[in-house]
Amino acid sequence: MRLYKLVMPLAVSAASLFLSGHAMAETWKMALGDAAGGTQYELGTTFANLLEERTGGEVTVDLFPNGQLGSEQDTVNNASMGLLDLSVLAINNITPFSPTVGVMTLPYVIQSPEDAKTLTQGSIGEELTENTIRDAGVRILAWAYSGCRRLTNSARPVAEPADLDGLVIRVPKNEIMISAYQAWGVNPNPLAWSETFTALQQGVVDGQDNPYITIDAMKFYEVQNYVTDSCYVFSMEPLIISESKFQSLSPEMQEIVLEAGKEATQRSYDYLLNTEASIKEKLVEEHGMEIVAPANDEQQWIEMATQIWPQFYDSIGGKEKLDEALAALGRAPAPAE
Ligand code: MLT
Repeated sequence: MRLYKLVMPLAVSAASLFLSGHAMAETWKMALGDAAGGTQYELGTTFANLLEERTGGEVTVDLFPNGQLGSEQDTVNNASMGLLDLSVLAINNITPFSPTVGVMTLPYVIQSPEDAKTLTQGSIGEELTENTIRDAGVRILAWAYSGCRRLTNSARPVAEPADLDGLVIRVPKNEIMISAYQAWGVNPNPLAWSETFTALQQGVVDGQDNPYITIDAMKFYEVQNYVTDSCYVFSMEPLIISESKFQSLSPEMQEIVLEAGKEATQRSYDYLLNTEASIKEKLVEEHGMEIVAPANDEQQWIEMATQIWPQFYDSIGGKEKLDEALAALGRAPAPAE
């Protein structure tokens, strides 16, 4: 994969604010796991521009896409230790550090952008933000909404779980996602996101899953032919800030950072709604991918994967945490164990 550095342009407003009582400009580093062009980049650039504008250029942000600052999970460690200011990464790569966040990656809980918004922007999202500060030393400032994760592979159309037989599928290093594939009868290969394109290209793995926007931004169409139009996990990509960095800021600056995060979140939601359909079309029309509908409205996939929910009740804080999320989405509680 080509590695490069993108530096956000300075946007110095006339009404410069010297928020920390001194006029020293600061540059913060933001890691992005994805290449430029997708939802992570959209969220990162929007946040960076808002921050620069609202601090009158006192704070600027350098963006490092494509995993240049380490794997997504490395960036959580680095931010936690105060070695990195900001990172945008997939929610599934935070779960290993703060297991209660796993409620967002249980298969078939979140099924639409509206569901994702409800869970991230309500009291459940607030509680998970508190938990990540406590468990991982990072604070979620904003959310990129990337869409449903779709299964891609280089070998053949996959419409039902049995079609996966013999395929090696890459999954994130996330116990919930590993178990979902095991429920479908596959022994998946857990690999860091930063190693995924190369593994697909070299045939070390045959497939992976990620949203249409990510498949496009990462140019997976160069090494994958088939996409199953599945929705087993909805991908959300939080922007995190090192909590020690956040606590070192003046109260006014903290407010600006939080407000910029909220606004960037809203814009990310709009970006998903405005772009996902055309990107899906482009993957077919321009890049020749074949889109396969899951058999029987995905029923078999759903029945097999949701069997794993009880395995994760302890790590997410109890069955009641899942039931709370389902209730917020207007759905019935999970079946009793
Ligand atoms: C992963 O598959 O590890 C992530 O979802 C990728 C991403 O951050 O887009």
